[in-house]
Amino acid sequence: MQKIGILTGGADCPGLNSVIRAVVHKAMQEGYVVTGIKNGWMGLIENDLRIVDLRLTSGILDRGGTILGTSRLIPPLQEGQMQVIHENFRRGGMDAIIAVGGEDTLKIGLELFRHYDIPVVGVPKSIDNALSGTDYAFGFDTAVNVATECIDRLHTTAESHHRIMVIEVMGRYTGWIALEAGIAGGAHFICVPEFPVHIENICDSLKARHKRGKTFSIVVVSEGARVLGHDARMELDDRRHGHRVGRIGELIANLIEENTGYETRVSVLGHIQRGGSPTAFDRITGTRFGFKAVEMVVAKKFGEMVSLRDNKMRSVKIEEAVRQHKTIDEDLYRLAQTFSG
Ligand code: F6P
Repeated sequence: MQKIGILTGGADCPGLNSVIRAVVHKAMQEGYVVTGIKNGWMGLIENDLRIVDLRLTSGILDRGGTILGTSRLIPPLQEGQMQVIHENFRRGGMDAIIAVGGEDTLKIGLELFRHYDIPVVGVPKSIDNALSGTDYAFGFDTAVNVATECIDRLHTTAESHHRIMVIEVMGRYTGWIALEAGIAGGAHFICVPEFPVHIENICDSLKARHKRGKTFSIVVVSEGARVLGHDARMELDDRRHGHRVGRIGELIANLIEENTGYETRVSVLGHIQRGGSPTAFDRITGTRFGFKAVEMVVAKKFGEMVSLRDNKMRSVKIEEAVRQHKTIDEDLYRLAQTFSG
């Protein structure tokens, strides 16, 4: 019987289990068995494999995280590790691998496809929605909804205390979460990595609101955002934790207080955005991605990634998806600016 391997790599996010479940159901329909590779590509380095069947995938659709576990491996891997992956892939009797992950996981998959002839199909996962070649990666919608709910909650306390609330959300290279949660949550200023701002711009807009009698404001900031002339890491003695960039929210809050005299607080949402149950959209998208990934294995579309374009399932070369980050929609950013000041 033919075998498909599946792994989930890099940062976890809600919807991974929806993909795994759909892969197992569709693979069985196509006459494959599914081998679960534990903890991303690390599972092939450590030869940590197990059969995933309907018994294991039952009841996981609405569960966050991943039943396969994950790990962060930053490409390029060492030469020896690629060889070990290749050997364990052959030894495991797999005919293809479905790699569910973001930029790092897919780049490793692409290398293995190109230089070790491993048939890889990619599935786009990124709560930051930063992967090119697809309108959406799953996980993003849940993160936006979680962040929006948090902004709503911070809104009421900001208003009661006449304070400025700075809310730092995820988004290392792209500001999708800040932009969409900011619009949905009625933010008064949104800072994204794509458009560095002067602190004067933020403060002028908050002062304009005060003049209109609005003594509170909400400022949403991507973790990768920048304030021109300031370096969050230098000024706040930043210590990097894993992939987190960190502490831009704190820098902006300090600068706002210094420049306006308004009492300011900061909330860093962090991994709360990655936990818990996926939204209906992410469950459906994850399910569609898993189904399509198996179809691509059957059609031998290797070196490609599942993609969602104009609400249709398609495929793109992995190379295209990881070449550069998908930056925010500028029209949407301009729309958000209408609500500043
Ligand atoms: O890449 C997704 C992401 O959630 C980023 O937004 C964030 O910077 C990073 O992962 C956090 O990584 P870690 O879980 O390793 O701290």
